This record gives sequence, structure tokens and C-alpha cells, in this order.
Amino acid sequence: MSNKSNQILKNTNAQILDEFNASIMFDKELYAQDIKGSIAHSQMLCEQGILTKEEQEAIEKGLLQVKDEIESGEFKFSLAFEDIHMAVESRLTEIVGEPGKKLHTARSRNDQVATDFRLYVQEKTLSIKKQLKELISTFITVANKHTTTLIPGMTHLQHAQPLNFGFHMLAYANMFKRDFERFESSYKRNNFSPLGSAALAGTPHNINRFSSSEKLGFEAPSSNTMDSVSDRDFALEILFNISTCMMHVSRISEELVTWSSYEFQFVKMSDEYATTSSIMPQKKNPDVPELLRGKTGRVYGNLISLLTVMKGLPLAYNKDTQEDKEGVFDSVKTVEISLKILNEVIKTMIVNVDKMESACKIGHLTATDLADFLVQKQNMPFRTAYYITKDVVACANSLNKDISELTLDEIRGANSELKDISEEITMYLDLRNSMNSRNSFGGTSTIQTVEQIKAFENWLEKIN
Ligand code: ARG
Repeated sequence: MSNKSNQILKNTNAQILDEFNASIMFDKELYAQDIKGSIAHSQMLCEQGILTKEEQEAIEKGLLQVKDEIESGEFKFSLAFEDIHMAVESRLTEIVGEPGKKLHTARSRNDQVATDFRLYVQEKTLSIKKQLKELISTFITVANKHTTTLIPGMTHLQHAQPLNFGFHMLAYANMFKRDFERFESSYKRNNFSPLGSAALAGTPHNINRFSSSEKLGFEAPSSNTMDSVSDRDFALEILFNISTCMMHVSRISEELVTWSSYEFQFVKMSDEYATTSSIMPQKKNPDVPELLRGKTGRVYGNLISLLTVMKGLPLAYNKDTQEDKEGVFDSVKTVEISLKILNEVIKTMIVNVDKMESACKIGHLTATDLADFLVQKQNMPFRTAYYITKDVVACANSLNKDISELTLDEIRGANSELKDISEEITMYLDLRNSMNSRNSFGGTSTIQTVEQIKAFENWLEKIN
């Protein structure tokens, strides 16, 4: 090979390696946290007499200028700087000269990246909590309007027992409340500052990690410097929390797809959230809930991917951890847009009360009520009551009726054991009475539903 082509090959390789090694193209997302961390670090260094007041002021001013340049689009992100930490520091030094070179005293990129990323995760945890609170409020508003609207409750996607739609909405409010609490608890657990851990072992400089930690809003500095430069649990926790939350988003989306189908017609989604088919002009497709359901997949992928990156890494920092960021950014963006859209879909959906209620007349939803009546009022063993109820169901089928629509005479004629049954039985077969009879704590009766709504309203007032 000629010298010239050898040189070209070397250059190409160097370029490929730079690209491979760099994280600047994605970790520029952390610019604000990087600058915030650096300002806190410089202030602490000044308090400790490691930087003079003039040096610190120049650094802080310079960092704010870098921030402006990034936000106005003026800043040139180049592969030459490898990552956001190097990029900010080099530009700072260009602007302020010598003091810029002192900023990295008593820190390493290892604690710097751990701090920036943790600040990002903590900030996003708070904003996702806020969105969850809004979504829960929306579910409560819908629940409040429908505490007496009947809907068939299902198991195995088969009609089981009548519920009220408000109660069904509250089931989701509970899921998203647990999600909220998961974010709340991971926030507390991870609210410790890695800054000042330096490369892994701490630093001989006389720094004050408590001061920089406080400036950044952390509860305290992390207690072991080696752990805090290697640990990515905080990133895994937000990925897990987002995954569970998206699993809930996916479940309500699945119901929305079903409920808006021609067969169900329980809800009509606002036209904004349904699209037409390019070939079948009559169609309205529930693309939005389908996408919400589909996006859950990538979020699970991001969680598994980081778990796999972290598995088997020796202490302390390894470059593998550079792979921690893109998945988290992607999951955060996905859950943010998903919660925003789901909130709008739920807010604007039109509930078709008539369709829901007439669907309750399919599938003999109150059959269990008849068996329970026979056990409670006639002192019958449950198994006997079960077989008698089967006869009543068969009778209703032969008359093409739902069990809730049978007359007293038809019930009496269904099985000889029922020939003198009291008229009270018809009340037990009534759908609304059946729903209201499930008045045990947390049950579907309107009374219990209203209690659950009240408890949620109290909770929503207290949280932030
Ligand atoms: N870009 C790196 C990352 O994201 C920053 C830390 C680099 N540290 C090092 N010792 N190479 O992890």
C-alpha cells in the first residue's frame, strides 16, 4: 500500500474511532445540568479558598455565556470534544482563559457525568410526577360523572358482573397513583450528590461536598465515592418506573381500542385522535391508543438494555456506562408525550352511556346474584343454588332474554325449587341493584365509588 493510501486509511480509522468514542451527539442533552453542576462546583471551590473570588466570578459568567450560546444555537458541537463536559470546559477556557483551566480541580468526568445525569433524572422524575397528577385528576373527573353509569365488568374478556363506569376509571386512577408513588420514592432514594467523588477515590483537595450538594438541591453527598461514580441504579429506577407506567398506559389504550370498536361503541374518541384509512373511506382507526400501546415496547427495551450494560461491570467507572443515556432520554420523551396525549384522549372521549348499559343486558351479568339470593334468603347450599341458577339462565336463553329481563312467572317456571319464590328475586336480578349490592369496602356500588373518589380528591390536594 502506498504511503498516501495508508495515511488516508489511518485518518478514516481515526475518524471512525472518534465517532465511536464520542457521546457529544447525545449527551449535549445534559448541557444545562453540566453547567449547573460546574457553577456549584466553582462556588464551592471558592468557598474553600481553592479559587479566588475573581476566578470564580469569571468562571460563572463564562459558563452562563456558554449556556446562552447553546440555547441560541450558536454553539458548535464538534466530535473533537468527545462529550458535553469537554465541550463546555473548552469553550469556557476560550472565553475566560486561565481560570477556565482551574474548574476541573478536585473533580473528574466520572463524578461530573454521574452528577449531570442524576440531576437530569431527578428533574424528569418531578415533571413526570406532575403529569401523572394531571392524568389522575382527569380520571377522577370522568369517574365523578359516571358513578351510576352501568358497564359490563369482564373477566377473561367475558361479561361477568355489572359495574359502574366511574369505578372502572378509578381502577386506572389507582394504577397511576402507584406509579406516582414509585417516582416519589425513587426521587428520595436517589437524591444524593456524586459531585466531588472525583475519579473514584475522592480527592486530596480540601473540598466541601456538603456545600456543592446543597447548592444542587440534593439531600446530602453520596456516602461512598467509588459507589457513586459506578452506580447507575437511579437511571435503572426511572427506566423501571417509566416501564410500569407505560404498561398501565398500554392497558387503558387497549381498552380504548376495544371500546371504540364497532362491536362495542362504548366510547367515541375525539376525531383528532382517530385517523382514516387510505383505502377504506368508511373507517376511523384508533391509531393514537394503538401507538401508545406500541410505544411501551421500546421503553421495556431501554430498561433491559441498561440492565444488561451494567451486569458484570467491575468497579469503578467503565466506558460501558456511556451507553446509559440514550435509552433514558428516549424513555423519558416517550412517557412525557404518552401521558400528555392519554390525558387529552381521556378528557375528550365521549362516553356512550346507552351502549354501555344495553351491553349489560348481554351475558346474564346478574346470574351470580340469583345464586347469592338463594344462599342468603333460602338458606340453600351454594352448589344447589348454582345448578338452579343454571336452569334460570337456560330458561332466559330459550326466551331470548337476559336474566335481568325475566318476569316473576318465568323465573318461577324455570325450576321446581323456585315455584314459590318471593317477588324480591326480581330486585336481585336488576342490573343497577346488583351493582349497588357490591357495597363492600372498595367495591363497585355507587356509595363505595363516591367514597373512593373522595379519598382521591383528598390525596390530590395533599400531594405535589
Ligand atoms: N462521556 C462519558 C460518559 O458518558 C463521560 C465520562 C468519561 N470518563 C472517562 N473516564 N472516560 O460516561
